[in-house]
Amino acid sequence: MRIKHSLFTRRQFLNGLLGGWLGALAVSLLYPVFKFVFPPTREPDQVTLPFSDFKDMKPNTVENFPWGSKPGLIKKNDDGSYTAFVGVCTHLDCNVTYLPEQRKFFCACHDGWYDQDGIHIGGPPPRPLRRLNLSIEGEDLVIKREGVE
Ligand code: FES
Repeated sequence: MRIKHSLFTRRQFLNGLLGGWLGALAVSLLYPVFKFVFPPTREPDQVTLPFSDFKDMKPNTVENFPWGSKPGLIKKNDDGSYTAFVGVCTHLDCNVTYLPEQRKFFCACHDGWYDQDGIHIGGPPPRPLRRLNLSIEGEDLVIKREGVE
């Protein structure tokens, strides 16, 4: 079956295609500028989480929690204590993963390694993982940025 009348002329179709492509190009160029001028939400001073969500963690395991726009990591240590880190690499901000069998944090972006205490031990990371202050207050886990009372 042949359609007698098209909704668009060939010229209109090509103009629309070109306009869409130019619009997408403009958005892809302006988006980084927008993110630079209006950065994403800054890090919180404090995050409060229900301790019941982390109480049953096994030693040498890590759980994630939201730390502003970044991932946070809570690690349960062998002695039953907890340590909290900002879960991004100190090289170029890629997310890090905990490998319990090796007892190391790993950054897959450029093969960065940290020991179980977050100390950089291999690859390009220049500094240890950022630690957060963690305390158990009643039924809550309270995680604060270092330097926040
Ligand atoms: S961002 Fe992690 S090693 Fe480069």
